[in-house]
Amino acid sequence: MEKPYQAMPDIEILPAHFPIPGMGFLAVNAFVIKAREPVLVDTGMGIDSDEFMKALESVVDPKDLKWIWLTHDDVDHTGNVQKVLEVASNARLAANSLAVLRMSTAWPVPMDRVYWLNSGDSISAGDRKLTAVRPPMFDNPTTIGIYDSKSEAFFSADCFGAILPSPAYHADDLAEGDLAQGMIGWESADSPWVHMVKPSEFNKTLDRIRHIAPKVIFSAHLPPVRGKTDRLLELLATVPTSTPFATPNQTALEKILAEKRGGAD
Ligand SMILES: [Fe+2]
Ligand SMILES: [Fe+2]
Repeated sequence: MEKPYQAMPDIEILPAHFPIPGMGFLAVNAFVIKAREPVLVDTGMGIDSDEFMKALESVVDPKDLKWIWLTHDDVDHTGNVQKVLEVASNARLAANSLAVLRMSTAWPVPMDRVYWLNSGDSISAGDRKLTAVRPPMFDNPTTIGIYDSKSEAFFSADCFGAILPSPAYHADDLAEGDLAQGMIGWESADSPWVHMVKPSEFNKTLDRIRHIAPKVIFSAHLPPVRGKTDRLLELLATVPTSTPFATPNQTALEKILAEKRGGAD
């Protein structure tokens, strides 16, 4: 886990980078929207628990949080949700109903603090409207991104992620080739169903985001990207016809372990 940084005057990023052996790094970002009713978007990875809580407390008093918005119930987004709910005693948990019910099989989610959202539903955070929007790519049926009416940013959950050669904090620092290759590979791996979708049909789902025209994309798995939404959508449009991503198999694992042993000698 790394030091939080301000991406916009009212938006802080709580960043981490998860190493993917043999491939590079995947950003794992949570966000604090410093709205009149402050919002935490996702809760980091459980493996970073202590660091995550410190990072959160360094940008907002958890007691001031009014909303904890889970973009979906995958563990890289829900890693510290129980701890955050404990300290953020004035916050409600905004999530898709299926995400809440699935989490309830693992721990007792306080249902009287929950707010169920479907794509298209909105909440008010005092000085802005936050609207749930299903991103064009997702690896989990409970996924709801957020369109923030004040910052005009789209918090896109896993969509627009990329496996990058090294950790990065600004999309402008990325080589175009690394971004394109990293994003197409990630989207194919994370949303393999896209290869079963007609490109023309998939393009219609991209129109939803073109219509919203967010000025900034805040992906959980990429540094923030400003003013390049059209370029990112062009990249996504190529994914259905790209070569499907082959996840590493046992041969790859043995090579990784042998390299590690070699490095330890
Ligand atoms: Fe996910
Ligand atoms: Fe994720």
